[in-house]
Amino acid sequence: ELGQYRHYMQKEIFEQPQALGNTLEMIAGGNTISPQVFGAHAGDVLGATRRVLIIACGTSFHAGLVARYWLESIAGIPCAVEIASEYRYRVSVADPETLVVVISQSGETADTLAALKHAKQLGMDKTLAICNVPESAIVRETALRFITRAGPEIGVASTKAFTTQLAALALLTLALAKINDRLTADDENTYLTALRHLPVAVTKVLELEPEIEQWAQRFASKQHALFLGRGRHWPIAMEGALKLKEISYIHAESYAAGELKHGPLALVDRDMPVIAVAPADELLEKLKSNLQEVRARGGELYVFADAGSEIPESDGVHILHMPEHYGMLSPVLHVIPLQLLSYHAALVKGTDVDKPRNLAKSVTVE
Ligand code: F6R
Repeated sequence: ELGQYRHYMQKEIFEQPQALGNTLEMIAGGNTISPQVFGAHAGDVLGATRRVLIIACGTSFHAGLVARYWLESIAGIPCAVEIASEYRYRVSVADPETLVVVISQSGETADTLAALKHAKQLGMDKTLAICNVPESAIVRETALRFITRAGPEIGVASTKAFTTQLAALALLTLALAKINDRLTADDENTYLTALRHLPVAVTKVLELEPEIEQWAQRFASKQHALFLGRGRHWPIAMEGALKLKEISYIHAESYAAGELKHGPLALVDRDMPVIAVAPADELLEKLKSNLQEVRARGGELYVFADAGSEIPESDGVHILHMPEHYGMLSPVLHVIPLQLLSYHAALVKGTDVDKPRNLAKSVTVE
């Protein structure tokens, strides 16, 4: 069943082009974005949506955080993202105009399901599930649904579920932008072309595995690591830190790079590798000055740049160039080397990659 792969996690990382292609099949033939992909009545519900509240746990929560950047900047819709176990127990202000989006690979996560029921009890009945399991408990509870087609995910660490969730959230963003007249035909075309091209773009990133493996050898001996990103790549830094912790047991933390000076810079020395997500976007210059601050304290930098980011390699500054800059969808590509990095760090450490200690694939108890 594993074929050429050593672990399910590795197999699932390499299945991402296919998983994305399947999930985005409805736009493959040149079709435009239709709200129908979220359900028969989705046009009405999305048309009346003034705000979005995304609820999820773990990796699925990180997908929601990326979507917040997309929804506000492209669709012009205010968006909040909450951890399910927090939302369900806090006193919050309900708003019936809000579209509640729950994201879950398994569709069985106890906290996410309970948070969804909580939102409904508060009178929020515009609900959408983005889920990888069509018959799951969460999908049965929502008015609208989008089933990602990642296929079964067996490795405990979520990989292909995450990137397909991002694809679904990109479609949601574009559907809302279109309904709100914020998407020109040209822009729609550009985004759709980029989405269709994603499987190819991901395949090219996967070819970087040998270089990433070498990086992993270098810092598998470290006790700690710091992940930095800005804007829509901050959640990707969070996801990179989560992956590294859960399968290699290396303590990792993530920060929005602009927060460095407000505390975590005190941790940086030559024993603290710093991993930076550094695409050539509007925040690159800001990020570069954050990276200089790290270098000045002796921190070794591992930078995931892309085709357009001009960051010179130097002593203690390792750069890996992603093949192309991918604009809005760049988070989908940038998470892939981080998945590979934690996978290979775990291999070096000899941990049980597919079944990390203390963790379960589906968290059905709170
Ligand atoms: C991390 C991971 C978990 C899950 C979380 C939510 O790699 O797999 O953090 O993302 O338990 O699970 P789902 O998406 O099934 O609700």
